[in-house]
Amino acid sequence: MKILIIHGPNLNLLGIREADIYGTKTLDEINSMLRQLAKELNAELDIKQSNHEGEIVDMIQNSRNYAALVINPAAYTHTSVAIRDAIAAVEIPAVEVHLSNIHKREEFRQKSLIAPVAYGQISGFGYESYLLGLRAAVSIPKKRG
Ligand code: DQA
Repeated sequence: MKILIIHGPNLNLLGIREADIYGTKTLDEINSMLRQLAKELNAELDIKQSNHEGEIVDMIQNSRNYAALVINPAAYTHTSVAIRDAIAAVEIPAVEVHLSNIHKREEFRQKSLIAPVAYGQISGFGYESYLLGLRAAVSIPKKRG
C-alpha cells in the first residue's frame, strides 16, 4: 500500500517555528518517525513539502497511484478552495492532520475548507497527529468496485 504525505507551507520550519504551539521536533525528525512506522505497517511512503499552493494542487492531482493521502495543508487549510477541489477531484481518501488543535485556536483557524472533503481529521496531538494520521490512512478500507 502506497501512502503520500504532504506537508504544506512553513512546515519546513518545524522545530524553530512557534515551538510552544508546534513542538520542537523538526520536519526531518517527524519524517524519520513516519518512515519507521510505515515499515512496521508494511506501507510504502512518499513524503513531500511545499510552500506553494499550486505545487500542492499538482501533488494531489498526481497522486492517483496512492491508496491514501495524509495532508497537513497548514495555513492553506483555512483559505484554499483549490486544494479542497483537488482532493475532491482525485477521489483518493485524504486524512487531514494538524499538529495543533485548530478548533481551540484563533477563530480564523477553526474553519477548515479541507475537512468536508477529507476522509477524517486528526488535530491537536503534536507530531503524533502525523503518526495517527498514517495509521488512519493505512486502515481506510479499500474502495470496492
Ligand atoms: C497547522 C495549523 C494551521 O492553522 C497553521 O497555519 C499551520 C499549522 C497545524 O499543523 O497545527 O501552519 O496546520
